[in-house]
Amino acid sequence: HEYTAPGELNDPAVRAAEVAEPGAVTIVVPTYNESANVRQLLHQITESVPARLPCEVVFVDDSSDDTPQVIREAAKDCPFPVTVLHREEPVGGLGGAVVEGIKAAGSDWIVVMDGDCQHPPSLVPELVATGERSNAGLVVASRYIKGGSRAGLAGSYRVAVSRAATWLTKSLFPRRLRGISDPMSGFFAIRRSDITADALKPLGYKILLELAVRNRPRQVTEVPFVFQDRFAGESKSSAQEGFRFLRHLIGLRTASPVARMVGFGLIGATGFVPNLFGLWALTKVGMHYVPAEILANQLGVAWNFVLIEHLLFRDRRGHRQWWDRVGRFGLLANADLVLRIPLIALFVHRFGMGALGATALALVTTFVLRFVGTEALVYLP
Ligand code: GDD
Ligand code: MN
Repeated sequence: HEYTAPGELNDPAVRAAEVAEPGAVTIVVPTYNESANVRQLLHQITESVPARLPCEVVFVDDSSDDTPQVIREAAKDCPFPVTVLHREEPVGGLGGAVVEGIKAAGSDWIVVMDGDCQHPPSLVPELVATGERSNAGLVVASRYIKGGSRAGLAGSYRVAVSRAATWLTKSLFPRRLRGISDPMSGFFAIRRSDITADALKPLGYKILLELAVRNRPRQVTEVPFVFQDRFAGESKSSAQEGFRFLRHLIGLRTASPVARMVGFGLIGATGFVPNLFGLWALTKVGMHYVPAEILANQLGVAWNFVLIEHLLFRDRRGHRQWWDRVGRFGLLANADLVLRIPLIALFVHRFGMGALGATALALVTTFVLRFVGTEALVYLP
């Protein structure tokens, strides 16, 4: 078999089987409205990748501008195959695009890099060679080791945010990110054999983090790099992307059942705030405290529901309609409240427990029941 003509869109599944070549590299580039950058990027790749390193470039494009056409036109001058996968329904943002590219990649090595020339393509051969030499599964291009820098990160505000985010992320995953000084980097090489694409749930910009935490590559090395200035245009990141990153972190951190239960408890604890506020407001306007507490409790339940939906069970919402989930969640939460008093009475009168111990045990019991019930009855595994 031969490559399809450069620039032509071909079936990724078929191509992956045809192209697979040991030691070769597939460069995956996510693009979103980068028509002013892609020609320059392909030019730089052509200059940097030596003939002895078999290479192909896969763009995964979510643009609304003419980026795909510009790529196809520029690809005619390239000595390697170039593919554009344009997504009509972009899911997962930047990370989702990279995973699409990984699935379509035909080589042993996959290098992920941005389409705006902030990642120097001259480093591609070194990333792959370092991985081969040290038998690593993942080689990260890092701004934070000797020889690297973040020259292209404009403004002290962005530098501060980036530092804080890196610190937070490293402290949340101390083991999985050991040996990675720059888990936020968007520039890295990874062996195809170290990727389990089905285990990935990409959400936004931090695809390296996703791969390192969920796929756990066998061994990690780093190579320093200087984060360049953008060639043209502006970053596509936004405040919304910042919130998406926080959701991504919480999703990764609560992937195990035990961690999810802890998250469930923490969210539940925050529910006291709207609950008490509701109680205060309703009694203030003259309502008796018993109906006020019953109503105020619904405010806490609603608060918990929204947070749990978006932070803990984001990927498991599809099994039931939203109103079905609201109903079941509300029933469980109120059953919890109704069950608590008879449970305390049972512990006190049948098992001779003190009131305080009985209350604590009842709280723990109903909490666990509510968590198990929410997992099984509202969100189905
Ligand atoms: N397909 C696709 N879909 N591509 C996207 C999307 C999307 O939704 N959003 C952004 N991209 C592409 C851009 O077109 C660009 O090629 C690349 O992803 C990086 O986007 P930028 O908007 O330029 O990111 P940045 O420079 O702010 O951030 C980069 O550096 C950070 C480190 O400071 C990225 O590499 C981040 O991952 C990295 O953390
Ligand atoms: Mn950029």
